[in-house]
Amino acid sequence: MRFWGLASACVAALFGSTTSAAGTTTYHDPETGFTFAEYATQYQLGRTLVFRVAVPTQVTSLTAYDAVLQVVAPVDAGWLGFAWGGRMIGDPLAVAWSNGNSVVLSSRRAADHTAVPGVNTAATYTIFKTGTHVNRTHFQYTAKCTGCTYYTNSVGSKNWIYSTGTNHLAFAYASTRPSNPSSTSSGLTIHDVTNNWDHDFSVGQNANFADLVTKNS
Ligand code: HEM
Ligand SMILES: *[C@@H]1O[C@H](CO)[C@@H](O)[C@H](O)[C@H]1NC(C)=O
Repeated sequence: MRFWGLASACVAALFGSTTSAAGTTTYHDPETGFTFAEYATQYQLGRTLVFRVAVPTQVTSLTAYDAVLQVVAPVDAGWLGFAWGGRMIGDPLAVAWSNGNSVVLSSRRAADHTAVPGVNTAATYTIFKTGTHVNRTHFQYTAKCTGCTYYTNSVGSKNWIYSTGTNHLAFAYASTRPSNPSSTSSGLTIHDVTNNWDHDFSVGQNANFADLVTKNS
């Protein structure tokens, strides 16, 4: 999958752009009412993952703010991880999988590349009743994260996720299911694919963010 990273680096070079993130689109979700910054990518040919992030407007730089994450993945994925800071180690990780008719979402943090990332109590998710489902082909979740946008990274300094700009994000895909799929603290085995992309949060602004959170919670 390194090819895709190289390809997008070449595209950025061609257009002489380092700040705009080609590939992020706006998605107005009819179900939840949020406006999301959407990025779709593949972990193998024909197998698409969709990552959508909705943020509030008027965020003060270098302050914590809640953000809403919506993810769509093939139902047969073992687990799917999302790294808010674009790396495995030290970032808030959202790890999710389907379990029958429900979606399990687990907040994790990795201290190294060896141990299974442990449960991260510094970042908490509230799964919304709307925008979360499992069907024959896909699972989808929509959740608010508190603690994902301004956090202490692996070297002890603070990382801030730009609410109006481009963030370098990452996913990890595993074909093997968690050992105890009904538990958010389940064991996991290593991913088969990881990749990065640039996600432009400027197209996921929501002036009515707080109202939408209340409506969907
Ligand atoms: C289940 C236990 C896990 C193990 C043993 C593990 C191990 C590893 C290893 C060895 C690498 C380095 C691969 C390389 O250098 O090519 C790596 C990279 C990576 N892992 Fe994991 N991983 C685990 C879980 C996760 C989870 C839950 C996520 C969630 C997003 C994740 C995200 C990433 C990402 C984005 C990379 C790319 C390079 C980096 O950021 O470090 N991993 N992992
Ligand atoms: C199943 O869920 C996915 C993800 O939300 C959606 O795109 C798809 O249309 C759904 N399929 C059916 C048959 O409803």
